[in-house]
Amino acid sequence: MTPSDESQLSSVRLLQLTDTHLFAPQDGCLLSVNTQESFHAVVAEIVAQGQRFDALLATGDISQDHTEASYEKFVAGIEPLALPCYWLPGNHDYKPCMNSVVSSPLIEDVTHVLLGDKWQVVLLDSQVVGVPHGRLSDAQLEFLDRMLSTYSDRHTLVLLHHHPLLVNSAWLDQHSLKDADEFWNVVEKHDNVRAVLCGHIHQELDEMRNGVRVLATPSTCVQFKPNSNEFALDIRSPGWRELELKQDGSLHTEVKRLTNGSFRPDFNAEGY
Ligand SMILES: [Fe+2]
Repeated sequence: MTPSDESQLSSVRLLQLTDTHLFAPQDGCLLSVNTQESFHAVVAEIVAQGQRFDALLATGDISQDHTEASYEKFVAGIEPLALPCYWLPGNHDYKPCMNSVVSSPLIEDVTHVLLGDKWQVVLLDSQVVGVPHGRLSDAQLEFLDRMLSTYSDRHTLVLLHHHPLLVNSAWLDQHSLKDADEFWNVVEKHDNVRAVLCGHIHQELDEMRNGVRVLATPSTCVQFKPNSNEFALDIRSPGWRELELKQDGSLHTEVKRLTNGSFRPDFNAEGY
């Protein structure tokens, strides 16, 4: 075994799917994209790659119609990946129905995970029921603070649905994490957060903020156009993110997408 094989084996490899926006009916569409078909196409493409992953992260907006059936479709859809899935709610999710499918062996209904010898993942709930923006309760902030203290020797990946920094899109930034300052105050009290990973904005983002990498990921359905103050759709295809968490705390990550031209939305739409 070469040194690079060894470092690959000792690192943790994660897959992120986000904003699947599934419906109970087979023909459920968001802005003319059949969200179940685009989600299945993404999963099929990942399976076809044949790469090793240790877990799946699903960062919210799993359902668009609040039904138990939509969550069951998510669970059935990830089956070919055969990975434990850690998930958290987005603004579109309905937690009572999410909770009803957690008996599936694939869903690990936890808010904290130790991965390998060197990493931990903290999953935060930024949902405010009934509105699109996000907020972390005092309890969520205290929980993050406690996990960062308790496992101060572990590198940390923090997951939440809403974007904790502005992304230069007025229509999306009005729906950002409203108590982002409080969130960053907790992160900056500690020195072990390596990255914050979110969904919600349906586009790729990769920025550094005071030494912490902030990542967002394309949806498995429709894409929003970056740097647009008005609602605007992007022509890019549905996608996902792959992450490799290395022993030394560094993180390798890549966004991948379906072939150009797949699952084009209705570009005449004025909102969603
Ligand atoms: Fe979404």
